Amino acid sequence: MACRGQKCFVNNRGHRLDNLDRFRDESVRGLATKRQARVMKLNPAVSKVRYGILLIKNGGLRVFWHHLKRQIYSRITFWVLERNLQADNGHIPCGVQYPLHPALWEDIEEALQVSKSESPEAVYDLIQRKWFCESGFYDCYIARTADTNDPCYIQWLVTSANVHMVSRGFRCRFPRLREDEVLVENVYTFEKYRGKGVMPSAIDVLSRLARRKGFKRMLTCVREDNTYSLRGFEKAGFKKFGEIRETRFLFSSRRKQLGN
Ligand SMILES: CC(C)(COP(=O)(O)OP(=O)(O)OC[C@H]1O[C@@H](n2cnc3c(N)ncnc32)[C@H](O)[C@@H]1OP(=O)(O)O)[C@@H](O)C(=O)NCCC(=O)NCCS
Repeated sequence: MACRGQKCFVNNRGHRLDNLDRFRDESVRGLATKRQARVMKLNPAVSKVRYGILLIKNGGLRVFWHHLKRQIYSRITFWVLERNLQADNGHIPCGVQYPLHPALWEDIEEALQVSKSESPEAVYDLIQRKWFCESGFYDCYIARTADTNDPCYIQWLVTSANVHMVSRGFRCRFPRLREDEVLVENVYTFEKYRGKGVMPSAIDVLSRLARRKGFKRMLTCVREDNTYSLRGFEKAGFKKFGEIRETRFLFSSRRKQLGN
């Protein structure tokens, strides 16, 4: 059953999206295959090498070198943004009609395939998202266009439960989360669909679902120089309330949170 209209809560597999628990079970089952479970057990260093090879294979040596330099030494500032889920944000216009549903493992693999026809930067973005999934973050959502069924957008939700569950070096990556807070991570609009309001509109759909699940506040971290992302979050009703400073040195990173 196809769903038309960006405010739709029914996905194109005929399930109601507001039954999030059932969906989460389905996506976890779809993602945690034996192969994934093996990947999750890999030593973080081995895992980084594996993703480095994948980056060379999909993006080429230039893309690999660009990101390797950032792992050797870089300093980045992230803005921490918040949205009060109890306040209504009004209608967010969107130029694409899409059903939105929890992603299965095949959706992530397909996204990676699509990255080959996107810019070199997109290859890194999507490989990083595959890594995120394989590290145990299964609460991923994908939007597909209503007419052609092309993937047009993906994003993850992270809660305090996820942060404690996942031990492989991600804890310092997130701002501190309370039980009633949910973090938006790894938003990505496929290049063909950018600038049409897909990201703020999809975040709005998921924030209403999160509100119904009892979450009161939605957070996200965006690099201070990612103006497109900051603009999209602003349209989705987010405001800046803090900063995280990250220093990467020789493949490890340290983050310091400033603000609440
Ligand atoms: C950031 C991102 C998710 C925004 O998604 P989106 O669906 O294009 O969001 P919007 O349509 O609301 O566009 C946001 C801003 O992007 C800019 N934009 C406009 N057209 C664009 C285009 N063709 N291509 C890229 N960006 C465009 C505009 O500044 C726009 O704001 P405006 O419409 O008010 O002028 C998307 O650019 C993306 O996936 N980037 C790469 C991954 C990334 O940076 N993720 C963020 C991690 S925090």
